[in-house]
Amino acid sequence: MKIVELRDVKKIYKTGKIEYEALKGVDLEINKGEFMAIIGPSGSGKTTLLNLIGCLDNTTSGKIFLEGEDITSLKPKDLTELRRKKIGFIFQTFNLMPVLTVYENIEFPLFFNKVSSKIRKERVESLIEELGLDNVSRHRVSDISGGQQQRTAIGRALIKDPIIVLADEPTGNLDSETGMKIIELMKKLNKERGVTFLFVTHDLMVMSYAEIVHRLRDGKIENERCNRM
Ligand SMILES: Nc1ncnc2c1ncn2[C@@H]1O[C@H](COP(=O)(O)OP(=O)(O)OP(=O)(O)O)[C@@H](O)[C@H]1O
Ligand SMILES: [Mg+2]
Repeated sequence: MKIVELRDVKKIYKTGKIEYEALKGVDLEINKGEFMAIIGPSGSGKTTLLNLIGCLDNTTSGKIFLEGEDITSLKPKDLTELRRKKIGFIFQTFNLMPVLTVYENIEFPLFFNKVSSKIRKERVESLIEELGLDNVSRHRVSDISGGQQQRTAIGRALIKDPIIVLADEPTGNLDSETGMKIIELMKKLNKERGVTFLFVTHDLMVMSYAEIVHRLRDGKIENERCNRM
């Protein structure tokens, strides 16, 4: 099932009078359950692409469909709501709330989704166990390791059962061994729960886990999909 579709997506950033075309017509399809990587040099538009799919920014032209719905015609308010409910984000710098605990960070997105406290507790506890965070669940995230922080960020992304998890260099701030554990965890969640992932990486080892790799260059997807299962 096709869950994400981009048709001739362009993005022009305007800074004062200067315009910069960061995406020059991108076509992309993502099916449910895929584990897809985006690679490409710095400045090629990888983060821009994730932000557009993730409803964080608007396209300049072209169309994006999420589960068949054209998101380019949504009002900003509806776009924000869609993002909060349906999109999981994982960032290179984790972007957690440092004064909150692991448990609270993972629980947080559920407050936007009006989930009852009983269901919240069940879901958060079972995810914490699955992510191997039981022993630090009541620790503030400022007091845990980078790998634990990134696992917490994965929990925060997954707790809302998102359509897709978008990950921008999820292993970029981790040593290679911890990074490998994180990508293996993502792959496990992909296989066992069918979570769809789209992730950006520079790391060859991380890239080798992807079933499909797309290369962005100068705002365009350069090669066709290459499957390596
Ligand atoms: N808010 C913005 N305003 C103006 N230009 C921007 C903005 N965000 C990104 N750009 C420009 O758009 C281009 C693509 O940026 P983007 O962040 O998508 O690249 P990237 O592929 O993620 O790079 P990196 O690997 O360094 O993270 C770059 O030339 C960048 O300078
Ligand atoms: Mg980037």
